[in-house]
Amino acid sequence: KAPLRLGIAGLGTVGVGVIKIVQQKAELLSKRTGHPIVITAVSARTRDKDRGVDISGYAWEDDPVSLALRKDVDVFVELMGGADGPAKAATEAALSAGKDVVTANKAMLALHGQDLAIQAEDNGAVLRYEAAVAGGIPVIKSLTEGLAGNRITRIIGVMNGTCNYILTRMENEGLPYDEVFAAADALGYLEADPTLDVGGIDAGHKLALLASIGFGTQVAFSDMVLEGIERITISDIRHAADMGYRIKLLGVAQMTGRGLEQRMTPCLVPDNSPLGQLENATNMVVIEGDAVGQIVLRGAGAGEGPTASAVLSDVIDIARGTRLATFGQPARELVKAKSAVAATP
Ligand code: NDP
Ligand code: HSE
Repeated sequence: KAPLRLGIAGLGTVGVGVIKIVQQKAELLSKRTGHPIVITAVSARTRDKDRGVDISGYAWEDDPVSLALRKDVDVFVELMGGADGPAKAATEAALSAGKDVVTANKAMLALHGQDLAIQAEDNGAVLRYEAAVAGGIPVIKSLTEGLAGNRITRIIGVMNGTCNYILTRMENEGLPYDEVFAAADALGYLEADPTLDVGGIDAGHKLALLASIGFGTQVAFSDMVLEGIERITISDIRHAADMGYRIKLLGVAQMTGRGLEQRMTPCLVPDNSPLGQLENATNMVVIEGDAVGQIVLRGAGAGEGPTASAVLSDVIDIARGTRLATFGQPARELVKAKSAVAATP
């Protein structure tokens, strides 16, 4: 069978993780999809850098747009990050050429997802982003596929690995913020601009994407009530612990009589509850549907292996011929969300 040829732009934590899986599990991927999955070309900022994987067999492109448009690339895999700039330019180039795109870029999708989804649908392409929300947890597929027969009533969760890692290590080990932050960096958890993590913005981007799928609404990130963990002190963490609570950066999205409510803020949760027991970069997403009741998804929310696992799941879907709409329904049919927060006096 014809190989599925990937062009990967971005060879950092996630890009290298994807290359490792493609190189190390070629036979398994081919058996599971019926097609060899191969990488034909790659791109990053710096060509001469030891990335710990052999990329000598792949063509190199300095420009991600040229990579996306190569004739020997069937699927453009965007792993550079950034809401705009080369990530968006190359994604648009691929989609307008009718090529499928897999990305882990929640910032780009939270700000431009509707337009990109329309572009994909108009050109017969698919735009997939399992890795963009909650790392290795298959939450996008759960909402768009597994729970598609439900009316979703509420989505709750801890969706930023960095924040949870910082909060739990500060609490458990009494470590200073700077030391834990540096450890999160070394593990590849941080966004290129870490203020997105600690400011709650990255988690807000993720919640906005889940809310769009769950409630059939346009992505409404700007309507979210947002606060990060920057103002949480070690004494806040200790006081909470003394009372039997832990501080979590917790997201809630629900449809209310006043409209869509979306909040991503530090919250106190009982330390013996499932949310309270999340350690390190673990994420948890709780989804409530009218037929299924409540389901809980828990797993690694960041890092090389878990995120690459999610990217591969999208690549595998494409290789198998699965053609899902970006937000689970045609993007033009997503309704504009009335914001419950804006409606609050
Ligand atoms: P890194 O910073 O580790 O890697 C980014 C890569 O993109 C680098 O290889 C860099 O090149 C390349 N790059 C950056 N800017 C450009 C540019 N202008 N032109 C060409 N290449 C460029 O990021 P991550 O791998 O951590 O993240 C990638 C994406 O995955 C982001 O969207 C992030 O939000 C998302 N994500 C990350 C997770 C994680 O745990 N790390 C989890 C889930 C999603 P060079 O190496 O030469 O500098
Ligand atoms: N910076 C993100 C986090 C990566 O810490 O959760 C995963 O999306």
